[in-house]
Amino acid sequence: MKYGHQPVMLAEVLKALQPRSGGTYVDGTLGAGGHAEAVLEASSPNGRLIGFDRDQSALDLAAGRLAPFGERVSLIPATYDQIGIHLQSQALSGADGILLDLGVSSMQLDQPQRGFSFRHEAPLDMRMGSQGETAADLLMRLKQKELTRILGRYGEEPFARRISARLVKERADSPIDTTAKLASLVEAALPAKARRQRKRHPATRVFQALRIAVNDELGQLERFLDEVPGWLNPGGMVCIISYHSLEDRLVKKSLRQMADPCTCPPDLPICACGKKPLVSIPIRKGQVPGRAEISLNPRARSARMRYAVRTKALA
Ligand SMILES: C[S@@+](CC[C@H](N)C(=O)[O-])C[C@H]1O[C@@H](n2cnc3c(N)ncnc32)[C@H](O)[C@@H]1O
Repeated sequence: MKYGHQPVMLAEVLKALQPRSGGTYVDGTLGAGGHAEAVLEASSPNGRLIGFDRDQSALDLAAGRLAPFGERVSLIPATYDQIGIHLQSQALSGADGILLDLGVSSMQLDQPQRGFSFRHEAPLDMRMGSQGETAADLLMRLKQKELTRILGRYGEEPFARRISARLVKERADSPIDTTAKLASLVEAALPAKARRQRKRHPATRVFQALRIAVNDELGQLERFLDEVPGWLNPGGMVCIISYHSLEDRLVKKSLRQMADPCTCPPDLPICACGKKPLVSIPIRKGQVPGRAEISLNPRARSARMRYAVRTKALA
């Protein structure tokens, strides 16, 4: 584990993307570059890879790892909803494969100063990049109702209302600006029975919810899914690994809609809207990692992968 982050479902990703020499591949969430390295190896000698990450420290790390591939690699410090603009600026008609491996990397979780983890005392930041509001800013600004919604929806936290009430009360006296302070406030807000019964740290759900909100993770994914068919060459693949049921639901629904965009009433004998499928979905069920992978890499536990193939005739 030289790079501190093991690529999840690597064999399944390569099977889906089928990298080939001469192809152009995009990794929208480069991280430590594990998937990217494997795609470059599989598309030797001439496959090209464009890697995006919003975190400059991830790009720096991946740059070292991918240096042996020389000019076959370009790295872009941007969010993955910007892929289209960069393909255009490089005069590329599209990509032959686009990968997203969502969420945070092990490196981000393990850097205490990033504020992603309740395991380390640190400023409450949680930004994957260097722009925008920190989690501490967000906790200061949000109305209680909105905070409850975020904790409930993104964290699936059953005690969202209780916790947000506790946080709002606290912030009136002093800002909630460290990971340790947030973790202890959440713990104190939970009923004793729930605190005892939780298998994971009592603040896990709240940290996850705030991270998703700080980084607009669902907004990013929605914008990507709206645009991605236009970024793929005919026959090109889009492959997405998600770790949260909300993300997977979004991916599933969007891919199915691209595969079956017809808006005609079901009782119409033939299609009159003329909307043609943009993709096909070779495996309709989301794929999950095998037991062996999960035992070697517990981060893979909640992974679900889906992929689709751009139709040959561009609609
Ligand atoms: C799970 S890691 C990817 C790991 C990578 N597949 C590997 O093999 O090393 C996710 C990475 O995506 C980045 N990221 C998350 N959301 C992003 C977004 N909207 N745009 C660009 N990068 C993003 C994070 O900064 C992180 O480095």
